Amino acid sequence: MATYDLVVIGTGPGGYVCAVRASQLGMKVAVVEKNATLGGTCLNVGCMPSKALLHASEMFEEAGHSFAKMGVSVPAPKLDLPAMMNFKQQGIDGNVKGVEFLMKKNKVDVLKGTGKILGTGKVEVSADGRSQVVETKNIVIATGSDIARLKGIEIDEKRIVSSTGALSLEKVPGRLLVIGAGVIGLELGSVWRRLGSEVMVVEFLDRILPGMDGEVARQFQRILEKQGFAFKLGSKVTGVEANSKALLAKIEPAAGGAAETIEADVVLVCIGRAPYTDGLGLKEAGVALDARGRVQIDPHFATSLKGVYAIGDVVAGPMLAHKAEDEGVAVAEIIAGQAGHVNYDVIPGVVYTTPEVSSVGKTEEELKQAGTAYTVGKFPFTANGRSKVNQTTDGFVKILADAKTDRVLGVHIIGIEAGEMIHEACVLMEFGGSAEDLARTCHAHPTRSEAVKEAALAVGKRAIHM
Ligand code: FAD
Ligand code: NAI
Repeated sequence: MATYDLVVIGTGPGGYVCAVRASQLGMKVAVVEKNATLGGTCLNVGCMPSKALLHASEMFEEAGHSFAKMGVSVPAPKLDLPAMMNFKQQGIDGNVKGVEFLMKKNKVDVLKGTGKILGTGKVEVSADGRSQVVETKNIVIATGSDIARLKGIEIDEKRIVSSTGALSLEKVPGRLLVIGAGVIGLELGSVWRRLGSEVMVVEFLDRILPGMDGEVARQFQRILEKQGFAFKLGSKVTGVEANSKALLAKIEPAAGGAAETIEADVVLVCIGRAPYTDGLGLKEAGVALDARGRVQIDPHFATSLKGVYAIGDVVAGPMLAHKAEDEGVAVAEIIAGQAGHVNYDVIPGVVYTTPEVSSVGKTEEELKQAGTAYTVGKFPFTANGRSKVNQTTDGFVKILADAKTDRVLGVHIIGIEAGEMIHEACVLMEFGGSAEDLARTCHAHPTRSEAVKEAALAVGKRAIHM
């Protein structure tokens, strides 16, 4: 029977990063993984494959629509979908192998099988009808999340798909109906629209991207509509019937009322994700869940059972890979007796569409609700020189600062490369910086990041190029 300092159940970004950090801190570590490959949702069916398809489909669209105006004359691009899927798979394989390498390099044992907690210090690992029990001083649950299902709508991953099926469709659907205008719906909707689908998105709320700044969401919706997206807001899908030719989705106003039927070839259900705790034996072991089925933890990631911790999508907070990673590092440090910590006020969120949307800190709606007095500095990419010469002027940077102290409380960007540009705001906010600090920081010219500096200047009503 092996004895470890730490056994981590799950090898997504939370689990494998936790294992590496714990090993760096001198612990003897094992990870348990039930999937054939390491890396969890993120590497296998989440962040990475979706970004590969977003990149490839964007290149396809650029070649078809943007090259000519720059004087690059190419014949109309032809889609080779199997080759594009192969490109995606190569990306997955490369990253998964990278995690295997990291486990070896850090001398982390990989135990293949389903992990079940038998009590403090004991994990049973079962695979192919055989099981072993490993002893360990500490356990970290990093089992992530699974797709949320819609009652009465059976996902077959062929015609009615979750994100997993939508990453591997065998042909471009003529009509794609997306249920849920959240991050998955808009990212994967973008992929298939670029490749030729007519995309309609049905959203329960009266806005897209709930949780993002309202002004950003409204402008982003207009941009997506210009690209060809159709939105049905304030609506819910109550059922999907299939015949041999099409899917017939029944749609009702969210508040109730007359139903209509919309035809589609593929329906993508993306209404959120649910914490994954199946098979872990939590109830029997005495690990408490919260009202939403997430593993309940204290501020130091400790569960109700001594020596058992939890991180990532399976606990409360945004379901994001970088949040899971940072929690993985923090809990390893806490177990090692250090002061591991995650600053939940500064976790960026990015939607990897074209243009991208990025955000960190408070939205205007949140500041209003909290009664915080704030100032707004906004700068459009139409006034940014680099964006003008590249003819990529959609979007703006918006900075929200405390009216009294000028401390930056939130930054929201729509625009090409917004996902890269948000990080100077994250660093600034980690240091408690002000809009003036940002405005006085020299930014290279010509870059799109100059729009961030100009938005910071605009907080003090002194933007130069506007
Ligand atoms: P997971 O990555 O879900 O990993 C959990 C692992 O635990 C899995 O490998 C699972 O097999 C294993 N496991 C579960 N139970 C057991 C058990 N009992 N025994 C053994 N192993 C077990 N986030 C971003 O930040 N950026 C993005 O661009 C992004 N894109 C996404 C796109 C899609 C389509 C999806 C679905 C998600 C996306 N996410 C993105 C979210 C991101 O994937 C998750 O937040 C992240 O993977 C959570 O990491 P985790 O370590 O908590 O869990
Ligand atoms: P989401 O929570 O982002 O969006 C779900 C949407 O569906 C919401 O707008 C919600 O109001 C709507 N909805 C819920 N029930 C509905 C119904 N019955 N009918 C119509 N609409 C309904 O969830 P999504 O897009 O499924 O993504 C899951 C998670 O994965 C997210 O939490 C996200 O953080 C993560 N993710 C992150 C990405 C990124 O960081 N770029 C990319 C993809 C996923």
